[in-house]
Amino acid sequence: MRNTDSLQNRWPIWLERLEDKLNRVLPGGEQSPEHLHQAMRYAVLGSGKRFRAALVYATGESVGVDLNILDVPACAIELVHAFSLIHDDLPAMDDDAVRRGKPSCHLAFDEATAILAGDALQTLAFESIADDAYLDVSDATRLKMITILAQAVGSQGMAGGQVIDLQSTNQALSESALKALHEMKTGALISASVILGAIANESINPKLLDALQRYAGAVGLGFQIADDILDEISDPALLGKSQGADKRHGKSTYLSLLGERTARQAAETQLTLAKQALQALPLEAPLLNELAQFAIQRRY
Ligand code: IPE
Ligand code: IPE
Ligand code: MG
Ligand code: MG
Ligand code: MG
Repeated sequence: MRNTDSLQNRWPIWLERLEDKLNRVLPGGEQSPEHLHQAMRYAVLGSGKRFRAALVYATGESVGVDLNILDVPACAIELVHAFSLIHDDLPAMDDDAVRRGKPSCHLAFDEATAILAGDALQTLAFESIADDAYLDVSDATRLKMITILAQAVGSQGMAGGQVIDLQSTNQALSESALKALHEMKTGALISASVILGAIANESINPKLLDALQRYAGAVGLGFQIADDILDEISDPALLGKSQGADKRHGKSTYLSLLGERTARQAAETQLTLAKQALQALPLEAPLLNELAQFAIQRRY
């Protein structure tokens, strides 16, 4: 375990491993159907904060799991995340032209290819959890990971949250409805990142898992509140996506609902809750502490 390490030291190591893993898991761009594979690689490789992968690694390392094992769920989560971003940017959804500092997938390729690249990234994620030999866990644990990820991405998780997000355009939501929306569209995948990292240790204590779940819930909501704030108040070059899009599209966000000051307070409340959850852990988890701070106080 490397519990004394700082995020500044660990994150570059995780990033390098992850990029290498993604590169190997994704079909080559010269492999048929080339156009589809190129779109998948375009959307996944070379950029992105890799925050969800960092959560997988930090959680797993905190409970003593080997990095070779953690590469698999970290990679799967980032594949699913990239799929969600491709679809989120489509004209039928947020209609955003810029993603990760370059043209969105449907503009760099075309809409049909972008939809299919998203589909194929999602199935690739599940395939890798199902059969990557580096994931040295029992079949029962693989199945559990598949179930948790599927639930996080499905109609009760991300997909459900995205539908509610779209239906809530130009609506005045209550704070509790907005919270529920954010927990589904963003929190669910962030929670799955923590839980997959944790259950890679097959003898993880249920109480520990429970505290990690509470930590992840707070981090997930805090992460999306920060995203809402950054959409309007940020450096677009640093952010890598177009600024002010939420307002232009009449999105329901913490910023539009509560204003900047209260939205920031709401994010800080989630940071406090995340830290409290960590204090209940029977182990030191400085990396998780730093990641919670990053999620909420980040500038990009
Ligand atoms: C953007 O996620 C979509 C949200 C759920 C807020 P990130 O801010 O993690 O995007 P990348 O992966 O760094 O591009
Ligand atoms: C996206 O939320 C959540 C996803 C499931 C992709 P946003 O629509 O706010 O994400 P950005 O701001 O486009 O990255
Ligand atoms: Mg969206
Ligand atoms: Mg969007
Ligand atoms: Mg946003």
